[in-house]
Amino acid sequence: MKEVTEYKVIRIQGEDLKIAMTLAENVTNAKGNILMPIGYVIEDVKRVQSFLKQHKIKSLGIRVPVIKEVTEEKKKEQPAKKRTKAPERVTYEPQYAEDLSQYKTHVSRQKKALQRDFDRILKGAEIASLNLEKSIERVIKNAQKRKSNPFQLIESSKDLDDMVYNHCHNVVLISYYLGKWLDLSEKRLNELTLTAALHDIGKLKVDPEYLKAEKMSEEEALELKKHAIYSHAIVKGDSYVDEQIKRAILLHHENVDGSGFPFGLKRDKIPLYSRIIAIADTYNDLTSKRPFNAKKNPLEALKHLETELMDKLDVELLLVFLNKLSTCFIGQKVGLSTGDVGEIVFVPKQYSWRPMIKLEKNGKVLDLRDSQNEKVQIDIFY
Ligand SMILES: [Fe+2]
Repeated sequence: MKEVTEYKVIRIQGEDLKIAMTLAENVTNAKGNILMPIGYVIEDVKRVQSFLKQHKIKSLGIRVPVIKEVTEEKKKEQPAKKRTKAPERVTYEPQYAEDLSQYKTHVSRQKKALQRDFDRILKGAEIASLNLEKSIERVIKNAQKRKSNPFQLIESSKDLDDMVYNHCHNVVLISYYLGKWLDLSEKRLNELTLTAALHDIGKLKVDPEYLKAEKMSEEEALELKKHAIYSHAIVKGDSYVDEQIKRAILLHHENVDGSGFPFGLKRDKIPLYSRIIAIADTYNDLTSKRPFNAKKNPLEALKHLETELMDKLDVELLLVFLNKLSTCFIGQKVGLSTGDVGEIVFVPKQYSWRPMIKLEKNGKVLDLRDSQNEKVQIDIFY
């Protein structure tokens, strides 16, 4: 009988990477920041290779199993395997239906207020005269006073979502929380949320049909991309808005690998606020119904961000976002493709999009990472 009793570490070159290999050590950049954590399992080889190239990382440590032959006698000598300790039980928070409904009423109101403010800005009103910061404060306070966490709140109001007002509202909230997790000062949080509130105002200058189009010509796509330039043009002459906010608005669609727009700048040239908003913007788009993509649930979005967009978004900020975000859904009630209803009770660090779910019908805990559960999907976030 063959058995894996231990693991060893081998060093390989980036080009020798294979699917399903597991990192034996953290992959860090020149500053020592973790880019890919120990235990990370390689899924998209080409993407990881291009990511390593981007960060000038040539080799990495991989964990490989040592397979040994085990005799029957030796097998008897071996002590019985200890049972893995079950994850700590997390108290289930009810869904606070009334609280969520109050939140949604506030969001509808805030959306209308933002619409009024944007209309006035387009007609030439000075931003200082609008009290936009007060509106932003109300958006944040409305989320803070609720019993559910902000990402459950955002999820609960997705039916209100649109590509301008509610999108800007949600990007304000998501950017604010990411800014908090990054320990930004109060002043910088205020600048960040003002940038987030105004980042997509330029979409109002684009033909509304383009915002609804499932497919568009190259020319139409180029016009839509210009919204970042339009947003910047709208705020450019306003002396109340700080220059770094204006620049961050202009550059909110730049990607760290240089593949973004309007200029194709790389990481070092992209302001921090733009890099934060790029993450918030992408998360809100992924979890919203858009003409160009189906709505993903938050865990599917998390998987997409981690496996598909690591080279486009700022990886250091993204890892903070993903780590914190994954724990926000502990206690979340979900509906499964099997027809069962349950509650997320544990979110693993690795494969955080495949959590453990306690079933309502019998209290059993289903680990979605188990191969026997690989076909089970989370269909509904209640
Ligand atoms: Fe945008």
